[in-house]
Amino acid sequence: MLKVRKVDPLCPDMAVIKEASDYIRHGYLVAFPTETVYGLGADSFNGDACLGVFRAKGRPPDNPLIVHIADLKELNRVARDVPDLVLRVIAKAWPGPLTLILPRSPDVPKEVTGGRDTVAVRSPAHPVALALIKSSGVPIAAPSANKSGRPSPTLAEHVVEDYINDNINIYVIDAGPTFFGVESTIIDVTKNPPVLLRPGPFTLEELRSLFNVDIAVPEFARGLGEADVVLAPGMKYRHYAPRTRLIVTECSDYSSLTRLIRDTAIDYLRKRLRIALLITKETAEALTMYPEFSDIPIIIIGYREDPYTIAASLFDSLRSLDKINVDIGIAEGIEERGIGLAVMNRLRKASGFSLVKCKS
Ligand code: TXA
Ligand code: MG
Repeated sequence: MLKVRKVDPLCPDMAVIKEASDYIRHGYLVAFPTETVYGLGADSFNGDACLGVFRAKGRPPDNPLIVHIADLKELNRVARDVPDLVLRVIAKAWPGPLTLILPRSPDVPKEVTGGRDTVAVRSPAHPVALALIKSSGVPIAAPSANKSGRPSPTLAEHVVEDYINDNINIYVIDAGPTFFGVESTIIDVTKNPPVLLRPGPFTLEELRSLFNVDIAVPEFARGLGEADVVLAPGMKYRHYAPRTRLIVTECSDYSSLTRLIRDTAIDYLRKRLRIALLITKETAEALTMYPEFSDIPIIIIGYREDPYTIAASLFDSLRSLDKINVDIGIAEGIEERGIGLAVMNRLRKASGFSLVKCKS
């Protein structure tokens, strides 16, 4: 049974927060907004409640959860031996969309970390998430609230969509759209140099200047190829995938990219396949001059000149693709700079690495 309650994202009704925190304290699940995506939370010190998160999502037990804290004082309850450099970074970055892999405190049950001796920790920059953690009195373990494999939820409606037919008690706090729309950046600081496991809204450029050391960026963090399962246990699973086949177009130069999107679309139309385009407002405008595109469904993924708008609507665009009846979605790639790195990682993975690139 889903119990959905709407709150103001910046000034939430404390009666709702209190009711949701009662769910957490009694071992039930709460779907709540963060600045990145909605999470599906449980008391991180209650192993059985955390197992409930895995069951609800259909998540493999070896894919660990992120522990969310509201106050730096809680860090020592979940992690140990945090180096001074990392503490200095945390002081600047939290609350914010940055998850750190740290040595696990023995108080964190093995269910949360999939039996690992490291734990993923972050402090979310969302008033509702922070109020919920504080009111619960415990750190909250939460993965993204989507069913395993589905695009992450950026609206409470996405959470409802994924669990409406299940017989599970979930309290859903609906605070409207999340702010960034892609999940937090994850960096493993138990390694030297630190390794970027997942790009996110906290950009690589910001990380490099905060850490002031080199940061390793494996190919899989760019969404290219399969992950190293020892380093990144969750990355081996298919992610973000719409049910409809998706391909991603990529070029370093924008005028070649519009041509590539057009040529690719025409190829599929000739094969009598039904296509949809997931493209930016700028590209949609450029394509209006071609009559062959007048009947093709277009999902606008944001403004090319402002990649934050693309991050914010990306997962909703992938979910929208499944709601129209087409054989294939053709998505526009963007530059791997700033939050663009996170967008390209999600798009490439969502396509199952079906990339079409410019020749040059
Ligand atoms: O923005 C976010 O991070 C959202 C919100 C709800 O906070 N959460 C989120 O959780 O995206 P999830 O479970 O969808 O992604 C967490 C990732 C998984 O790929 C998991 O494998 C990885 O973090 N992870 C968790 N603990 C880890 C550990 N000890 N070592 C390496 N990777 C870990
Ligand atoms: Mg997830």
